[in-house]
Amino acid sequence: MTSLQTPPPDTGTAEHAWWRHGVIYQVYIRSFADSDGDGIGDLGGIRSRLSYLRDLGVDAVWITPFYPSPMADGGYDVADYRDIEPVFGTLGDAEALVREAHELGLHVLIDIVPNHSSDQHEWFQAALRAAPGSPERERYIFRPGRGPAGALPPNDWESVFGGPAWQRVADGDWYLHLFAPQQPDFNWENAEVVEDFHRTLRFWLDRGVDGFRIDVANSLKKDRALPDLGDFDQDLLEAHSGPHHPIWDRDAVHEVYRGWRLVLEEYDGERAFVAEAWVRDAERLALYVRPDELHTAFNFDYLRAAWDAEELRATIDSCLATTGAVGAPTTWVLSNHDVTRHATRYARLDSTAGGVGEGERAGPDTPLDLELGLRRARAAALLTLALPGSAYLYQGEELGLPEVLDLPEDVLQDPIWARSGHRERGRDGCRVPLPWSTDGPSLGFGTGKAWLPQPADWGSRSVAAQQDDPGSTLELYRAALAVRRGTPAFGEGPMSWIDSPAGTLAFERQPPEGAGSRVVCLVNLSDRPVPLPAYDVVLLASGPLDHPGTLPPDTTVWLR
Ligand code: NOJ
Ligand code: MG
Repeated sequence: MTSLQTPPPDTGTAEHAWWRHGVIYQVYIRSFADSDGDGIGDLGGIRSRLSYLRDLGVDAVWITPFYPSPMADGGYDVADYRDIEPVFGTLGDAEALVREAHELGLHVLIDIVPNHSSDQHEWFQAALRAAPGSPERERYIFRPGRGPAGALPPNDWESVFGGPAWQRVADGDWYLHLFAPQQPDFNWENAEVVEDFHRTLRFWLDRGVDGFRIDVANSLKKDRALPDLGDFDQDLLEAHSGPHHPIWDRDAVHEVYRGWRLVLEEYDGERAFVAEAWVRDAERLALYVRPDELHTAFNFDYLRAAWDAEELRATIDSCLATTGAVGAPTTWVLSNHDVTRHATRYARLDSTAGGVGEGERAGPDTPLDLELGLRRARAAALLTLALPGSAYLYQGEELGLPEVLDLPEDVLQDPIWARSGHRERGRDGCRVPLPWSTDGPSLGFGTGKAWLPQPADWGSRSVAAQQDDPGSTLELYRAALAVRRGTPAFGEGPMSWIDSPAGTLAFERQPPEGAGSRVVCLVNLSDRPVPLPAYDVVLLASGPLDHPGTLPPDTTVWLR
């Protein structure tokens, strides 16, 4: 153990572990804050804004990959799992960040990317130098091709980013890459791969991190025979996967996480895993959070649900039931660095139109009502923060930022843009650097030009512009997080639905015995005002309550 270990923040008893009910703020490092003027966010930038996160009132930060990387996929192409990308800083900066976060009472989750490395990883470089069939190639998934002279890919799998999932190397062998060609998939049947990831987990746990977000956690164990997909769905985001799917969510993947759990248990404190697993069936997702595996998994059904009372209610029920059955808490998330920001999703005139994924982003021509989107986003935030379980916020949602739909084509960096033959613009629109101040070269993001241009009107959406304005989205989030923290009923306990008019959601949260009053959350997703139930105090509302006793459309209220 190194001297860098700092005690993590006090977490109370195991049953009340922070990760069961905490609010975790996702930092997309390239776009959060830039400390050295190169236009790219970095560790120094995060350190300089830790007090902002503490004042916002979150419990933890999750930082997207900060490892050495050629950035073929924004850092999800890792060249060395146990070091820091120089553009982002040094190992010393990362250690200081963990220490300073802990001093402020913030936990730190880091991203781990086990499905694939960068093609610049020393193991992949060694594999390229070695011969077909060599132990070096066994750490990845190399195969001969099909057809005359092996000129055709070994099977029909497609890359999530478009095009075939196979790339041919100079000696004629092919290797698998479920994502970009610069992201070769590891062979998780290989013991060296398993051991090396244990070593990486310990490396960062020794440096005091409180846990890991696991990238594409459901893809590690492919069917060893690598059969054609045939009738199976290719689409990562939409596939109904399960034990028979050759790629996604096979039963064997759980072995990996049982091993990871044992590594984590070597360490003290409340440390936790959260799985990114796009698994469509709630029962299958719950398998990842069994007591000897991961602690939590993102619940993407909630993020995918339309702004519709019935659909949301059914989703909430199924998520609570399935994770509850294995004793795990549920996670709630509305946005992240891969999907259209929810202020824009909810601005679609038909809120059920279009999905969240790369291929379904609203283009510049889709009719949008951004004022409506923001109103709903604010209402959705109060719904999310009233539900039992942990909640994830994506940087900038506290400012009400919309997706940037009109980035010039020549600045687009997401590999999806090139791999789709310029048909899909990809995910850059939710990755535009944050506006911190009302003016300056990159609106306070840094001192230089930001790596993606910010819209001209983002100064008015900046932290400085919203700070202390009681009607702003930033102040709504601050108030919500303060009320959540100070209200025992919002803790881990259960929720129960209460009767409410059509098109609304209403539920009650009960405090633990003798710890304060019950709270009611009422969300109006209909297009007309609805009466408020009897209450003592309005704790918070997502918009003005101009007509006493009624809740306007697209508004949420918390009542005591
Ligand atoms: C999921 C990450 O969130 C995404 O940004 C990345 O492109 C893929 N996994 C591949 O690592
Ligand atoms: Mg920088």
